[in-house]
Order: sequence, then C-alpha cells, then structure tokens
Amino acid sequence: MAKRKPEEKIQPHTSQLKKKQALIIGASSDMAVAMSHLLAEQGWNLILAGRNIKDLREQSSDLGIRHKIIAEPLALDLTDGKGIAKKIQSLDGVPELTVCFAGIMQDEDQARTNYETAERILTTNYNGVIHAVNPIAEMLKKEGYGVIAVVSSVAGDRGRQSNYHYGSAKAGLTAYLSGLRNYLYSYGVHVLTIKPGFVRTSMTEGMPLPGPITGSPEKIARDIWKAIRKKKNVIYTLWMWRYIMMIIRNIPEFVFKRLKL
Ligand SMILES: NC(=O)c1ccc[n+]([C@@H]2O[C@H](COP(=O)([O-])OP(=O)(O)OC[C@H]3O[C@@H](n4cnc5c(N)ncnc54)[C@H](OP(=O)(O)O)[C@@H]3O)[C@@H](O)[C@H]2O)c1
Repeated sequence: MAKRKPEEKIQPHTSQLKKKQALIIGASSDMAVAMSHLLAEQGWNLILAGRNIKDLREQSSDLGIRHKIIAEPLALDLTDGKGIAKKIQSLDGVPELTVCFAGIMQDEDQARTNYETAERILTTNYNGVIHAVNPIAEMLKKEGYGVIAVVSSVAGDRGRQSNYHYGSAKAGLTAYLSGLRNYLYSYGVHVLTIKPGFVRTSMTEGMPLPGPITGSPEKIARDIWKAIRKKKNVIYTLWMWRYIMMIIRNIPEFVFKRLKL
C-alpha cells in the first residue's frame, strides 16, 4: 500500500473506535481480566484469546451476561508458530483495539541450563507476540485507524542476573513496538508500549513484593485505558517505575556488573 500523504494522516483517537471491538490476548491474566471488565463496562465487545478455551468460554459468558456485550473466546497458543497468524486472520472483522497481556516468567536457573525452558520464555514473550501482532498491524493499516497496546516489562530496560532471559525477550519486544509505532504512525494506527513494574498477579504469587511500588491488576488496567485515550507511546505503571528504571539504566556497567540484582 502506498504511504499516505501528510494531509491524509488520520490521528488515532478513541472517538474513531466506533465498532468498539477489542481483542485481548492472554485474556486469563489477572491484568487482562481487569481490563476486560473495564472495557465491557463501557460497551466494548470482546474477543478473549488464550490457551485454555474452556476457561475463556466461561469468562466470555460471564462478561456477556454481566455487561450485556458480545464476548467470545479464541483459542490461541503463542508457541504455535505459523498457526498464530492463521488464527488472527480467521477473525470475523478487524478489532480496532488489541491489548496483549500474554507472557511467562520461569525459573532463571532452569533457563540457563534447560533448552526447553529458555525456548519457552523467548518464544512466548517475544516471537509469539510478534507473530500475533504482525497480522493485526497489517489489518489496521488498511483500515487507517486502531490501537495496538502490548504489555512489555521494566525487566526489558536493563538485563539483571535474576531474570535476563525474560528481560531480554521483553527488551526485544519493546524495540519491536518502537519500530512498529514508527511504521504505523503515518497510517493512523497507534501503538502503546506498557511497562509494568511489580504487579500482584498469579505470575508474582509467593514473591515478596514491596507494597508502595506494587500495583494491583485493576490499577494497571485503569492506567492502560488512560494511556490509550491520551495516545501515550510508552507508559510505566506504577508511574514511579519510570524514575526507578532511569536510575537503574544509568548505573555504570563497571558498578552494575558487581550488583546482585
Ligand atoms: N506480574 C508482574 O509483576 C508483571 C510485571 C511486568 C510485566 N508483566 C507482564 O504482564 C503480562 C501479564 O502477566 P501477569 O502478571 O498477569 O501473569 P499471568 O497471570 O501469569 O498471565 C500471563 C498470561 O499469558 C498467557 N500465556 C502464557 N503462555 C501463553 C501461550 N503460549 N500462548 C498464549 N497465551 C499464553 C497466560 O494464559 P494461560 O491461561 O494459557 O496460561 C496468561 O493469560 C505478561 O506479559 C507479563 O510478562 C507482569
């Protein structure tokens, strides 16, 4: 498709999201559940994508009844290679909003020594998300509007010994989203990168989380929605993580390599 002339640019704005259909990838995540309720309360119809179709069916039915919207499940496994794009392309219509929450964090010692674990972390957090987002981006490009919001992580801002397999996949994802935002801007499609710090979810269950800098899934969902409406490019949630990561990124490498982080 030829690039739009500057005067033809369509600025992405939620007022353009008329059909109000959103695709939620990783819909079983606690943050995604909070986001789904927030969107459904405002009349958005939802497609809930993830691996466990039985649970997603129940989740869809609950949302549909509670909020009087249309919610449907979509079986999607981000380790499914070429099958991912096929699933997305099989959608009936183009969801003008996609929010991707899918991701996994696994034991770092195992990732260092076990091929399958390392592969699962990299494939789910990086390759899989990209293979799901690419076809959505192409569909929205043709429409000339829409929003793609993807949850990356502060862990991608600097590799640390405690989770550098996960962190490097998220760093790659953050770079991909930056490029995608740059690519889609002139087509009127907005890309939001979401970088949560600590969030109380099943992923962090049992971990000692510092209260003041730990968010609830509901707070993260509200921050994401606010960022979509305000056309933010990159958000940290909770907000103080922007400054925490600024400090961490600026520690000189000769000091950083000696720290136990
Ligand atoms: N919790 C935190 O402190 C924190 C901090 C920064 C960033 N994040 C990011 O936030 C996002 C949501 O995480 P969460 O904390 O809410 O964790 P969570 O509850 O464990 O949710 C992870 C989601 O990813 C989905 N998923 C995992 N592997 C998948 C695959 N192969 N194909 C499709 N979906 C798959 C899970 O679906 P299933 O039901 O199929 O397992 C689940 O919906 C993740 O991207 C995570 O990296 C979390």
